[in-house]
Amino acid sequence: MRITVFLGAPGSGKGTQAKRLAEDGLVHHFSTGDMLRAAIAAGSDIGLKAKVYIDKGELLPDDVMIELINKALKPLPDSSKVILDGFPRTVAQAEALDKSPRSRVSEAIMFEIPEDILVKRLTGRRVCKKCGSSFHVEFMPFEPGKSCQDCKGEFLYQRTDDSIDVVGKRLAIFKTQNEGLLSYYSRVGNLKKIDANKQVDLIQKSLVDLMS
Ligand code: AP5
Repeated sequence: MRITVFLGAPGSGKGTQAKRLAEDGLVHHFSTGDMLRAAIAAGSDIGLKAKVYIDKGELLPDDVMIELINKALKPLPDSSKVILDGFPRTVAQAEALDKSPRSRVSEAIMFEIPEDILVKRLTGRRVCKKCGSSFHVEFMPFEPGKSCQDCKGEFLYQRTDDSIDVVGKRLAIFKTQNEGLLSYYSRVGNLKKIDANKQVDLIQKSLVDLMS
């Protein structure tokens, strides 16, 4: 498999870009955050466990996350192209991926962006319950019950972990884990970086260049 991992702070745009790059159906996109939120919505065992951590802005245990991602990758053919968005979050998760030659990471792309922009993006984010598209209140004033611009689905909501208190905690945890991940992938020799404080289309172009 050719596995690209997207590294970066909450709100740095990993999900936005991964969804766009997977639109052609040729790339498999796995967002561990989306997988966990789907499990919460389904009321499964892992969902019940995940909710406690997500609502507090804390990371789930490594063994739970490693099992989740291994299960997702298992059925894919060896020729698959994969983007992992939100995994790995710790060095233990990164090592678990590289342990098997099949899931060894080809490149880790770090989304670089100043922290003040992240706080604004996250606290202003509203998400469509049906299709998962996200919007910012500045560009689409939020009204409860307002339908999604993309799918006209149900309504837009604020993620429980996008409140200002939880955002602060998520960013603090990101900082404690990220240094180790950057050192890990620099040592392995496959770390790349992009400026994520640009327009969505420009970032996408940089990613396509980096991933080709
Ligand atoms: P997860 O869902 O992965 O959250 P995150 O990493 O905090 O990522 P976000 O979805 O907040 O940000 P993003 O970088 O994808 O940005 P987005 O594109 O949405 O994880 C949630 C929780 O699950 C974790 O806290 C943890 O509890 C648990 N978890 C998940 N994975 C785990 C793991 N591996 N181990 C342990 N626990 C785990 O963009 C953000 C906003 O900005 C959007 O509104 C978007 O429209 C806007 N935007 C995007 N790009 C731009 C741009 N270029 N210009 C202007 N606005 C932009």
